[in-house]
Amino acid sequence: MDVRLAIVILAAGKSTRFHSKKSKLLHTICGQTVIEWVLDAVLPLEPHQVILVHGPHNEAELHDALGDDYSDGEINVPLTYALQQPALGTAHALLQAEPVLAEGITDIIVLPGDAPLIDDETLRMLFEARDAAGAEHSVLTALMEDPSGYGRILHDGDPENGIIEAIVEEADATEEQRFINEVNSGMYLFSVRVFEQLRKAAETIGKSSVKGEYYLPDIVKMAPTASCMTEDYVSISGINDREQLAWAEQEVLTALRRSWMQAGVTFRMPETVYMHADVKLDEDVEIGPNCVLLNGAEVGRGTVIGPGCVLDNANIGENCTLMHVRALDCDVDDNVTIGPYVNLRPGTHLQDNVKVGNFVETKNAVIGTGSKLPHLQYIGDAELGENVNIGAGTIFCNYDGVNKHRISIGNNVFVGSNSSLQAPLTIGEGAYVAMGSAVTKDVPQDALAVGRARQENKEGYAARLREKAQRLKEQRAMEREREAGEAGGKS
Ligand code: UD1
Ligand code: MG
Repeated sequence: MDVRLAIVILAAGKSTRFHSKKSKLLHTICGQTVIEWVLDAVLPLEPHQVILVHGPHNEAELHDALGDDYSDGEINVPLTYALQQPALGTAHALLQAEPVLAEGITDIIVLPGDAPLIDDETLRMLFEARDAAGAEHSVLTALMEDPSGYGRILHDGDPENGIIEAIVEEADATEEQRFINEVNSGMYLFSVRVFEQLRKAAETIGKSSVKGEYYLPDIVKMAPTASCMTEDYVSISGINDREQLAWAEQEVLTALRRSWMQAGVTFRMPETVYMHADVKLDEDVEIGPNCVLLNGAEVGRGTVIGPGCVLDNANIGENCTLMHVRALDCDVDDNVTIGPYVNLRPGTHLQDNVKVGNFVETKNAVIGTGSKLPHLQYIGDAELGENVNIGAGTIFCNYDGVNKHRISIGNNVFVGSNSSLQAPLTIGEGAYVAMGSAVTKDVPQDALAVGRARQENKEGYAARLREKAQRLKEQRAMEREREAGEAGGKS
């Protein structure tokens, strides 16, 4: 019979140990929420539907965050929400999924919502283990050095034959059973008969006398259930507090960096680079120490980033060099040199061969091919043509205290150092601005704008000033001597 798969994610628990206003499932690991990591793991299995079992406390926030379907761009799966109220344990939680189950579902994979490191390969093993043992259900297990907190797997004689005798919760386990280090991951593959069997278990086994909950692992007493052991205990680990969240993020980061290295990216000090899962790096990109790549940042072939760059939703082209640059929501074309100490703010677009030197801030500005912003500039709300040179210390005065205005600069314009350009303003192609100018009027093509007082040289004036100053100095010294003498005579 064809498998028609549903995924049920148990998420009605309260994230008490997170001490957070929001559900732990909505905290992020490398830019993606914990629940999205779980959803990403199940998408390649092409499930027919995903059911999220939630409590009244997190219904709205989960729905708001995830909506009614989930897609990785290729595979799309509908999300269905099922309320568990009150929370009477994991078996009771799974039963809440039954009324919303799509027609014709044959199999169900059950996952906890808070184990983000699971992957589709590991989940596929559940099918193989079930078939190999001729069982009805299967449970993913792992060997844990420290199994505390987990349910322990008891085998009926030979652990190799895979059929589980019982799963004993830590709270209910004997001293001896606590030494067992094969643990229940809380991840299962069930046939659709599981619902009927759980209802029966509720009658025959009932609630745990210790915890007062209906235990999902009790299913192993109702139908032959195979264990499926993964060697990778990391993949089943859950996130219960922020320390575990940080640990999981390190695991994901290590894997991300490793996969980019395998794809041809050089990391000088990989452990100092933080990145989101959605960044895109070409071959022969080089990432130096202390870089942070966020929100879909992209870097083209041959570009060298770092040390000390933060790229946040920035699209950097090929063969660029960036050192100590922060780039947010902006585009950089090819062969561009930037830094050190540059702040590229939203709406910046640096075209090919642009050079941006130290201590420069840009915002909402298109800088044309081959133009140079070598030192200490603020360039906001502007278009610069090709081969424009802006002198050191030039400020684009784009704000009148109420509104922002634009500055447009033609090709081959040269703006002298320490000028202030008052927007709105247009400077025509090939024009010059004399250094130190305050430019308040449009400058025509090929004109020279001088916006400062004309220099005047007064012959011999400095020498006369110096003599006068010298005389004043001597006079003051004499006065101080006289005052000191008078004071001495009094005593
Ligand atoms: C459970 C298993 C344990 C396993 C461990 C793996 C049971 C009884 N025990 O224990 O064998 O080793 O997971 O992590 O199942 N949930 C609900 N509704 C409820 C209770 C729980 O939706 O009424 C959800 C939680 O949000 C969580 C998942 O089910 O995502 C597991 O529940 P949790 O309380 O963490 O169970 P554990 O004690 O860890
Ligand atoms: Mg748990």
